[in-house]
Amino acid sequence: MKSILKELSNRVREAMTQIGADGDPLLATARDPKFGDYQSNCAMGLAKKLGKKPRDVAAELVAAIKVDDICQPLEIAGPGFINMRLKPEYVAECLGAVSPEDATGEDRLGIPKAAEPQTVVIDLSSPNLAKEMHVGHLRSTVIGDCVARVLEFEGHKVHRENHVGDWGTQFGMLVAHLRRVRPEVMDSPDDLEISDLESFYVEAKARFDADDDFKTESRETVVALQSGDEATRRIWKAFCNESLRHCHAIYDMLGVELQDRGESAYADLMKDVIARLDTARDAGQADFIRESDGALCMFLDGFTAKDGEPLPLIVRKSDGGFNYATSDLATIIHRIESLGATRIIYVVGLAQKQHFEMVFAATRKAGWAGDHVSLEHLGFGNMLTAGGRPFKTREGGTVKLKALLDEAIARARTTVEAQFSQESDGRPALGEDEIDAIAKTVGLGAVKYFDLWHALNSDYKFDLNTMCSLEGNTAPYMLYAYARIRSIGRKAGIDFTTLATDAPLSLEHPAEIALATKLAHFPEVLDVVCRDLHPNVLTEYLYELSKTFSRFYDRKVGVRVIDASPDEVRMSRLRLCDLTARIIKLGLKLLGIGTVEQM
Ligand code: ARG
Repeated sequence: MKSILKELSNRVREAMTQIGADGDPLLATARDPKFGDYQSNCAMGLAKKLGKKPRDVAAELVAAIKVDDICQPLEIAGPGFINMRLKPEYVAECLGAVSPEDATGEDRLGIPKAAEPQTVVIDLSSPNLAKEMHVGHLRSTVIGDCVARVLEFEGHKVHRENHVGDWGTQFGMLVAHLRRVRPEVMDSPDDLEISDLESFYVEAKARFDADDDFKTESRETVVALQSGDEATRRIWKAFCNESLRHCHAIYDMLGVELQDRGESAYADLMKDVIARLDTARDAGQADFIRESDGALCMFLDGFTAKDGEPLPLIVRKSDGGFNYATSDLATIIHRIESLGATRIIYVVGLAQKQHFEMVFAATRKAGWAGDHVSLEHLGFGNMLTAGGRPFKTREGGTVKLKALLDEAIARARTTVEAQFSQESDGRPALGEDEIDAIAKTVGLGAVKYFDLWHALNSDYKFDLNTMCSLEGNTAPYMLYAYARIRSIGRKAGIDFTTLATDAPLSLEHPAEIALATKLAHFPEVLDVVCRDLHPNVLTEYLYELSKTFSRFYDRKVGVRVIDASPDEVRMSRLRLCDLTARIIKLGLKLLGIGTVEQM
């Protein structure tokens, strides 16, 4: 299964060359099937360049575009849109060529990998290790994981970097506190266990605020830590490892894999950042690097404070210390120069929009990122309570992510238990373990799906009732749709994995054509997600696909399937069912969501 959009774009590009023009064919999936399946808007732009009327250019193009094998006769609409409608035979051929499901679980539906794979770094999750992961870390983890899965699926080399905060001044306080309350950590750092990191932090902070000696000790500890003192580093490492264990319990639960590489990993490179900037400044090459009030700053075009004064990016504070920006500059250098990244994606809340704009501008200005490197901040809005307020415990603290996920699983378990703890319709009752497993898939799937279908740049309300509902654009709905389609195969007594695929599909009925065309769009939907990094494009597609399937399977508006005849037609329709289930399964997998075979 390959991208039809890509194939058509190539054909339009050839036609453009033929009429003496070049550029982007501006081809996209049509919004309204009334106008066909694809639409090209390139005639308008070309008309300007060529000094002709848009409709004339469109007509010239239509005469030159060679797509008889793929499309029905092209149509020109409005000011010069070129509409393309696929031939059902072509769709049948594309889908018919997909091999049966691969038993390895690596079903890719014959979708080819990118011709030119990139090395991509995805900066995701990245909590501060001083505290437990809270609800605010859900989005970066889930969105980052989805984007990583899609890019990886398309054949890119993906580094999932967990850029944890392990190097701020609060670690002086935490290490000092740890040394006092758990002196044994010195001898056996690996045995350290802190069951509640949150209250450990609160205790340390209370002592810090109340006790001046402790304050001094904390400050000295930071200095010792940052200058590489062995003993201090051992305690610090023990604390970070323990904190990371808490994080990984959540990553395991969510099925998220990533590489821990926190701010501390760049400690030496931060000195190098400053050295590089100093050298550039001293060589007189860079008047944008200047001292201001004792701090070393970079002045970048286009950034001004509220009062209109230039807004500097501080890279070395007046006390000589480094900050968040220094560590991010060092990190970018590492990613480009050591990991060889040509695309770096930061999945971090929109609150840090300006930070990343400035860091990216600084990286370019300093000459560390060439034009071949793309730097992208994939920002997102906040997750709010169902009532629309920021998440807080009754005491005003942060809500632990673990608690939220447990609640979603418990909620899903109630429904699953009601459904499966007794036998029904010839299906035996499920055991506790099986019920637990389904509840986990459904509960976590509900949370992830709900997060991912929201547009990235808006806030959303975390609403367990809605996300666990079997109706609407939710994970339970999608999982149910999947299980239902799988059961059609079982009822028909078909083993899809051994099905010969050389028989062409037969697409006659409008509901059949609509379903097949929708299925054929899948590769280009993935391409769009790879390019724009918006997971909701994928959830939207899957939702539409399952609605299209429902119409296809509806006896009134659609077709008969299990009892269809003759046999070629029945087989063809059953294969459409199989492809639908496989695309839903793969789509959900790319969202980080597992499937269950019965629901
Ligand atoms: N630790 C940071 C925070 O909690 C997020 C880090 C994001 N990544 C980065 N490279 N700055 O706000």
